[in-house]
Amino acid sequence: MKAIKGIIFDLYGTLYDVHSVARHCSEHFPGRGLEISMIWRQKQLEYTWLRSLMGHYLPFEEATDDALRYTCSHLKLMLTNDVRTTLCNEYLKIQPYPEVPAALAELQAMDLPLAILSNGSVRSIHSVVSHSGLEGHFAHLISVEHVKVFKPHPDVYALAENTMGLHRSEILFVSSNAWDASGARHFGYPVCWVNRADSSFEELGQQPDHIVSRLDDLPLWLGQAVPR
Ligand code: LAC
Repeated sequence: MKAIKGIIFDLYGTLYDVHSVARHCSEHFPGRGLEISMIWRQKQLEYTWLRSLMGHYLPFEEATDDALRYTCSHLKLMLTNDVRTTLCNEYLKIQPYPEVPAALAELQAMDLPLAILSNGSVRSIHSVVSHSGLEGHFAHLISVEHVKVFKPHPDVYALAENTMGLHRSEILFVSSNAWDASGARHFGYPVCWVNRADSSFEELGQQPDHIVSRLDDLPLWLGQAVPR
């Protein structure tokens, strides 16, 4: 691996816990919160991939809204417009994983420019990051909105490389979504997979350069094992 001069993070599932909405889902559908949020997230991802293939981009919040409507219909739950609006708004305020703020502070202290590259719209990313008070850690918040196609399309990874002003081989790409880590590795980024759930990596023709189970393992590994 070459010297690492910057880090790009995925947002949903990597820095922020998409299942922090489960609690709010339970308030409206008692006992069903996690079930809803699991199907909601999976369907949201599928809709982004399908829309990219169809050449019909739409903002991430709309894919999230479509996925929630599908989920409730699939589970035969009555979704009123009020609850739909409330739950979609909660997606704009999802919580970071507990170790994330300290890990970002440590990485920033290592003088590495940090960025987020997300399928989220400009509005979604800014809302989530500013709600958590972590915006000061990032040099760039990069949305797919600028290329109007979702990850793992290579145009998205190229957008981030151009924004960082570094060569792809100098940027560590960090994601807990194995499909995203695979896409980034195919593009040419060195990749760290955050395997929070002790899962198997995707069989998509690439392997991560490094695996951590939590984000706070990253500064230690970067400090000890990676040239800068
Ligand atoms: C993102 C999702 C895909 O932040 O995790 O891009």
